[in-house]
Amino acid sequence: MFSAKLKEGGPLYLFGKPDSLDFIDYRPYLTLRSRIVWFQPSRLSQGRINYTNNYDIVCYLTKGRHSRAFNLDDIRVPQLVELEHRRRCEKVPSVSNGKFSKTKFNQKGKNPGNVWGDIKQLTYKSHELINQMTLNTIQKPEKLIERLIKSSSLPNDLVLDPFCGTGTCPVVCKRLGRNFIAIESDHDLIAAANARLERTISHVRTPGKIDFSPTEKPADPCNPSPQLTFSW
Ligand SMILES: C[S@@+](CC[C@H](N)C(=O)[O-])C[C@H]1O[C@@H](n2cnc3c(N)ncnc32)[C@H](O)[C@@H]1O
Repeated sequence: MFSAKLKEGGPLYLFGKPDSLDFIDYRPYLTLRSRIVWFQPSRLSQGRINYTNNYDIVCYLTKGRHSRAFNLDDIRVPQLVELEHRRRCEKVPSVSNGKFSKTKFNQKGKNPGNVWGDIKQLTYKSHELINQMTLNTIQKPEKLIERLIKSSSLPNDLVLDPFCGTGTCPVVCKRLGRNFIAIESDHDLIAAANARLERTISHVRTPGKIDFSPTEKPADPCNPSPQLTFSW
C-alpha cells in the first residue's frame, strides 16, 4: 500500500520486533536493503521465562533497487579504531604486496553500520519523554528518527509517518527542514503530539499540525497555519 505512494528509489522504514518482516511479502513492491538492529542493552521489561529481547528491528526498504538518497556524510559516527593503529595494522605483507588494499579511514567518521548501540532508549529521566505511559511501547528517541530522516531524505522532501504516536517524526522533520504528513488514531496522543510540535517549533512561522479528520474538526479559515488533517 505504501509503496504506491513512494517515488522511485524512495525509502520505507518499518519498525518492529525481530520477526516483524517475516510474514509480509514485500518483494513485488520493495527491495529490502538492510535490517537495522537497534540494540538496547538495558530494556525495562526483563524476561522471566525466556532471554530478554534486547533489540528492535528497523527494516530499510526502497522502491526499486536503487535508493534515491543515502546521505552517509550526514550520519557518520566516530571511528572506533584510531588512524595510527589502523596504519600500523596495514604494515603487513598482504597489504604492502597489494593483495589487499588499505582500509579507508574517513576523518569525518564511519558508517553507523546496521547494529546501532549508540542510541539509548528513553528512560523516565529523558527530557524528551512526553509522559511515562509512552515510555515502554511508544515513544522513540528523536536521535533514532533523526538518523533515518537525515540519511534517506533531502531538505523539503515529504515524510509520511502513518503511526506518529507522540509526534517524534514530525518534530524531527520540522527541525531538519523536511515536510511531513503524520497520522495517529489516538486522540490523546494527537493532542500531545501537537503540543510537542508547537513547543519544539515555536520559532518557525508556519507550523504544521497533526489533527483529526476535517469532518471532526474543521480547519479555522482565520488561522494561516497549514493543517495536516488526516486520520486512518
Ligand atoms: C509505536 S507507536 C509510534 C510511536 C512514535 N514513533 C513516537 O515516537 O511516538 C504506534 C502508534 O500507532 C498508532 N496506531 C495504531 N494503529 C493505527 C491506525 N490504524 N491508524 C493510525 N494510528 C495507529 C498507535 O496509537 C500508536 O500511537
